[in-house]
Amino acid sequence: MDPFRYRDGELCAEEVPLADIAARYGTPTYVYSRAAIEAAFREYTAAFAGTPHLVCYALKANSNLAILALLARLGAGFDIVSGGELARVLHAGGDPAKIVFSGVGKTDTEIVAALAAGILCFNVESASELERIAAIAAREGRRAPVSLRVNPHVDARTHPYIATGLAESKFGIAHTAAPELYRRAAAMPSLAVRGIDCHIGSQVLDLDAYVETAARMFELVDTLAAEGIVLEHVDLGGGLGVRYRDDDTPIVLARYADAVRAARGAREVKLLFEPGRRLVGEAGVLLTRVLYLKPGEAKHFAIVDAAMNDLLRPALYAAWHGVDPVRPRAGATTVYDVVGPVCESGDFLAEARALALAEGDLLAVRTAGAYGMAMSSNYNSRPRACEVLVDGAHAHVVRERERIDALWNGEHVAR
Ligand code: LLP
Repeated sequence: MDPFRYRDGELCAEEVPLADIAARYGTPTYVYSRAAIEAAFREYTAAFAGTPHLVCYALKANSNLAILALLARLGAGFDIVSGGELARVLHAGGDPAKIVFSGVGKTDTEIVAALAAGILCFNVESASELERIAAIAAREGRRAPVSLRVNPHVDARTHPYIATGLAESKFGIAHTAAPELYRRAAAMPSLAVRGIDCHIGSQVLDLDAYVETAARMFELVDTLAAEGIVLEHVDLGGGLGVRYRDDDTPIVLARYADAVRAARGAREVKLLFEPGRRLVGEAGVLLTRVLYLKPGEAKHFAIVDAAMNDLLRPALYAAWHGVDPVRPRAGATTVYDVVGPVCESGDFLAEARALALAEGDLLAVRTAGAYGMAMSSNYNSRPRACEVLVDGAHAHVVRERERIDALWNGEHVAR
């Protein structure tokens, strides 16, 4: 579903005109659709209905408490990668027994906190980490539930910065080395071996990469079972891509589910998933206002009040985001680079877009619900944007615009 549609010449979020949100709360503002997030979650769970499964939202994509609370109410689990994310999930009312903890660099403090919370599973990424978790659990008098994150050495054919399943990646344990480490884990009394985990990359549009990965994971399940190491779950990670451009073709969830079920066969294992982008990416826009139009000899610029500190993806990955006028104008278009006020040439949101614009116009940067606000910063001492969650005809501020005096919170002048 696309919750951002034109009604009477005005771009709306569900039933709320984006211009009303800008008038009330200012710009730049992230606007999310509750219905779109719910629909994306339900699509995932419906695709796997009848097969034991748990969808663990990867909150690194967007960790706003309102979104976490919404997903927790729908029964979601969560994939966390830090103590901060653990605290957020618990604060939002998430069930600790549905949390998986991923990441290559878990600290002792984070391991202790996750054990105390009673999480579902640690996704372990190295032999050293396994030893560390075992030692901490023994010291705390607990048994730590673990999966090994296995690197299947599959090419997800995505941007190199977000591909994680290749042999040269820092992530996971080589699938060839996994059985030996499982044997060691099974022999450690402070560990409970629960499952196997993988994540091949992000913005993946190729179903075959998952077919290959799933085959490799279930093969390992059988190898281990033959040695008496019986796994309860297989976590296939996240990574399913969304539509940024018209010619992107996201994997159809029903087909993904069919392929995963076929690979699982009659095995009695529960399936876990860690989607981030797929649940929230298309459910958000970044609303921004044109400050100045600056014609140039080589290029024309539309300078807007959102910048790379608000949405880093174009600068970091050369990512393409659609840019739609909130109230389209009739008349001739001009080709603009849509750029922010930050003092960097890399500060652009979009390049070479044909738009009919006047100063003061509002623009919606599309597909900004994932890795938008979550990757924002205060670079150039710019306060972080406001976040609004729309539910039908209602708009709720779910994060206030950061105040200028909050920018130096915790700073001290040395005397
Ligand atoms: N599980 C693990 C272990 C991950 O590392 C990630 C993402 C996910 C799940 C969720 O992946 P998703 O379903 O959202 O694709 N900042 C980049 C994306 C980085 C993804 C990092 N890991 C971007 O803006 O494209």
